[in-house]
Amino acid sequence: MQRKAKTPAKVVPMRPRRKTTGVALDRRQAQALHQQDTAHLVHGFVPLQMQQKKGVPIFVKGQGVYLWDTEGKKYIDGLASLWNVHVGHGRKEINRAVAAQMDKLAFAPTLIGPTSVPTVQLATKLVKIAPKGLSRVIFTSGGSESNETMIRLVRAYWKAKGQPAKIKFVSLNQGYHGSSSGAAVLGGIPVFNKQMEPGLPGMLHMARPYCYRCELGKTYPSCQLACADELERIVEREGADTIGAFIAEPVQGVGGVIVPPPDWLPRIREICSRHNILMVCDEVITGFGRTGAMFASTGAGVTPDILVTAKGVTSGYLPLGVVLFKEDIFQTFLASGDEYIFWHGYTYTGHPAVCAAGLANLEIIEREKLVQRAREQGKYLQKRLATLRDLSIVGDVRGQGLMAAVEIVKDKATKAMFPAELQVARKVWENALDKGVITRVAGTNNIALCPPLIITREQIDELVATLRRALEEVAAELNEEWKLASGK
Ligand SMILES: Cc1ncc(COP(=O)(O)O)c(C=O)c1O
Repeated sequence: MQRKAKTPAKVVPMRPRRKTTGVALDRRQAQALHQQDTAHLVHGFVPLQMQQKKGVPIFVKGQGVYLWDTEGKKYIDGLASLWNVHVGHGRKEINRAVAAQMDKLAFAPTLIGPTSVPTVQLATKLVKIAPKGLSRVIFTSGGSESNETMIRLVRAYWKAKGQPAKIKFVSLNQGYHGSSSGAAVLGGIPVFNKQMEPGLPGMLHMARPYCYRCELGKTYPSCQLACADELERIVEREGADTIGAFIAEPVQGVGGVIVPPPDWLPRIREICSRHNILMVCDEVITGFGRTGAMFASTGAGVTPDILVTAKGVTSGYLPLGVVLFKEDIFQTFLASGDEYIFWHGYTYTGHPAVCAAGLANLEIIEREKLVQRAREQGKYLQKRLATLRDLSIVGDVRGQGLMAAVEIVKDKATKAMFPAELQVARKVWENALDKGVITRVAGTNNIALCPPLIITREQIDELVATLRRALEEVAAELNEEWKLASGK
């Protein structure tokens, strides 16, 4: 019997009970949690109707690449939870490092001076592994906060440099830089920009290096990187003396896992340098080995002026964001005569326990050679995913390292998409979730995969085989609906 919710919404546990593993909660307790979740907890990026009607999984345990929910159902974490659990779940080394730090010192106010041992050690470690020349570190609590910091850093820098008109930012269409106000309008996701109107002045967007569906209607390599050259056009139109920075994810994640041609990032670097524009790489997803290099910018042979990162720095064990920037930027503030760097900071900057988690996590990444592993297993993942190309609704498969997407189309020849209201990608995502595979819809019609860097070949096979079944079932369902609609 379903227990009655106190709220109007009738909630059923999301998944039918399957074989339990000893982690399942008592049935009543699990149902109560689902009801409380639906009644109180806001999940910003879950379709409202889905949460209200079906509920979301409530996880109770994670180990390696697997997770278990309150009903004891096992899932393979094909998205490293939210593109972030690089070292996998249940790593005792990180837990122990955090507990040991909490026992010694739980907090230190780095912002106003006194700091802690792991805070200094992590800053030093990050400078060592980052692209050369990025020698200064600001800690935040995540990717959005890091991009807020970056926006203020860029605008303050140009003022300190005596070029106060350089306030504009250029970013890519569909770029995602976070959900806080500044980061939302910095990005190129129209729904965010519209909601935040009138936004911040000077946020400009341009075509992305999306070769499967070129936004300029061209083909690589005969296009000669026309999308990168759009930056040149923007500079001509707006004037270099008004543009402070260009920002991009080296591989766009949320926008659909858009992997640029190898010469795209170097070309952008060259244009930024020539016009005296700061180049910012948002490596919130691509950092710490995800694409097969410690940072995707290093992998592309490029050093940005500012590198923003988060997620994999602690593998999500505790919240941490990082802004790394070049020594000249710091020296400009120093030379400006201002008393403080740019009047900026957060209470939790460089939190000791969080930094201890970061250090333990980076130690695992190095000890287990996870960067190299991401490169090797990434090749295998791409090879396995390529086998999905035979499915009628798979138009493209792409990726770099252990970051990939399957693009869903209605017509392979024309690349036409399904009407948005059919929500085909969402159906595939939900179907895969029902089958115990966690993925994510990226853009409107892509299924993103981004498993922990520790994933094995067998687990990749399991992931891809289940995704295939999910895709096949949705394709068959669409075919059936189409037959009914057309009377065939
Ligand atoms: C590229 C990129 N930048 C920034 C963010 C925002 O990070 P956070 O959710 O930690 O605020 C994200 C989150 O997915 C991201 O993918």
